[in-house]
Amino acid sequence: MRIILLGGPGAGKGTQANFIKEKYNIPQISTGDMLRAHVKAGTELGKAAKKIMDEGGLVSDDIIMGMVKERIKEDDCKNGYLFDGFPRTIPQAEAMKEANIGIDAVVEIDVPDEEIIKRMSGRRVHLPSGRTYHIVFNPPKVEGKDDVTGEDLIQRDDDQEDTVKERLRIYHDQTEPLIDFYSREADAGQLKYVKVDGVGSVEEIRDAIFSGLDS
Ligand code: AP5
Ligand code: ZN
Repeated sequence: MRIILLGGPGAGKGTQANFIKEKYNIPQISTGDMLRAHVKAGTELGKAAKKIMDEGGLVSDDIIMGMVKERIKEDDCKNGYLFDGFPRTIPQAEAMKEANIGIDAVVEIDVPDEEIIKRMSGRRVHLPSGRTYHIVFNPPKVEGKDDVTGEDLIQRDDDQEDTVKERLRIYHDQTEPLIDFYSREADAGQLKYVKVDGVGSVEEIRDAIFSGLDS
């Protein structure tokens, strides 16, 4: 199964990716997590990306495509893959077609901007795995610690309110056009388009995604 998770910043893509990847036994490919790994490792790419990410902007399509093309050559992608936060622009979606990176389903998680701003301030993440928590809505078993490894959770640098607002603006401008792009492909029978209401409990949204994908 080859799936794209589409949705604004903080819509719950990372949270739901955990369930989807288990169910279909496919790797989660989060371009945001890959960039944060570069930042943490202090690579040249990481240094350039950090500045852009902290401002809420988008890293260049070429850099992102280079990363994704390398990643999907790996063995664990033979069964399919789950893209989280990719593609994010029409040029990225077109570059995927050119590179023959096929897609069976697009899952759109729809959350209003006001709700997103509330979620981001309480988010905590385990950087090595990308596992995501919320201090109120989805707390870890032990405060400040990852459930699986017990390691520390951190707050993302781009979760400041001003940065979140800029990320939302960029989402509406650059990423939302993908909704039409993939809806048209769904109308042409090329893939399945599943739109879910992203407001509700984590489990309710998970169930809505699964029933959409299974129908
Ligand atoms: P990226 O890491 O992709 O960030 P994003 O799209 O802004 O999405 P987030 O990770 O912030 O949110 P999410 O939807 O995963 O939500 P989550 O599950 O964590 O990208 C970061 C940056 O990298 C970009 O700004 C850009 O600069 C760059 N970048 C990445 N990919 C790129 C690309 N393809 N092209 C160019 N640039 C790129 O949930 C959020 C919070 O809400 C959590 O605390 C969670 O616990 C909580 N929550 C989840 N579900 C619920 C619920 N149902 N109810 C209440 N709370 C909930
Ligand atoms: Zn995420």
